[in-house]
Amino acid sequence: MQFGRTTLSKFVIEQTRGQHSEMGALLIDVAAAVKTISALVGKGALSGFSGALDSTNVQGEVQKKLDVLTNEAILRHCEWGGQLAGMASEEMDEPYRIPDQYPRGRYLLIFDPLDGSSNSDVNVSVGTIFSILQRSEAGEAEPGDFLQSGHQQIAAGYAIYGPATMLVLSVGNGTHGFTLDRESGNFQLTHPDIKVPEDTREFAINTSNERFWEPPVQRYVDECKAGKTGVRSADFNMRWIASMVAEVHRILMRGGIFMYPKDNKDPAKPGRLRLMYEANPMAMLITQAGGVASTGRERILDVPPETLHQRVPVLLGSKSEVERVERYHQEYD
Ligand code: AHG
Ligand code: MN
Ligand code: MN
Repeated sequence: MQFGRTTLSKFVIEQTRGQHSEMGALLIDVAAAVKTISALVGKGALSGFSGALDSTNVQGEVQKKLDVLTNEAILRHCEWGGQLAGMASEEMDEPYRIPDQYPRGRYLLIFDPLDGSSNSDVNVSVGTIFSILQRSEAGEAEPGDFLQSGHQQIAAGYAIYGPATMLVLSVGNGTHGFTLDRESGNFQLTHPDIKVPEDTREFAINTSNERFWEPPVQRYVDECKAGKTGVRSADFNMRWIASMVAEVHRILMRGGIFMYPKDNKDPAKPGRLRLMYEANPMAMLITQAGGVASTGRERILDVPPETLHQRVPVLLGSKSEVERVERYHQEYD
């Protein structure tokens, strides 16, 4: 046991003192929700909550019991404190109205309660992703209040439920990682000021979609696969976990590039990942860590949102690699 480490509460209180002190209280509630979810997913099959429901979410995806339960966990932990004007999530068609018995504040919380949920029944890392925005004044949020660009995020973070549970957070002043000490119940600052390593030879993409990709992505991946004998003159390694949280976490720790690019599998979907609660928060964390997050044609944080559940292509990670794929898009266009 180490005394004197910075706890998440201390970090948040210090970082949000003044203008955003109410958001500090909200972040502490988010962390409490994350601990509840960590305990729940950590029980595995013993929780009795494995498997799918009969329902689908607004995106037509089959909901798992854990998708719904983790969504409830965040709503219950965060609705009461008076900091929020509203919440929205992957698992709810419309924004959630703060119940009348609670005071309302000016912040907006948007989240993916369980990212990588296809991995939850096979004991592979899953996560929670969240983004905090604000409206001009305290009160009940209108649906349009949520449609702000990623640059307007006041805070963003994710929790990863892996061998250890970690919370990785940015309040606009770097990206910082906290590890849950399961004995004391505290998140301790273990990874201050994370920087995405620059020199990297690792890529992550679901290659089963290769035939649907655009030429610039095909070109980049072909060059990686060609290794030492190709134009890159270096061997590359590939990883695909199918939990964005786990891929982003690996990239923050040891570099690399993650891509869920635009493809023509379903012309109605310009990408797989959702802008407001997957791409934007991850883009803030990666950018604050010195990396780049792009659609291939524009920076994720610049994308003007049109709808709450809109999808975007996502390429993120080490600066030089993401910029290379951006250049391939420019050359192609
Ligand atoms: P979610 O479980 O919240 O729907 O998100 C899953 C996402 C993301 O985490 C992952 O990178 C991607 O879907 C995996 O997609 P494939 O199944 O196409 O590999
Ligand atoms: Mn997700
Ligand atoms: Mn999800």
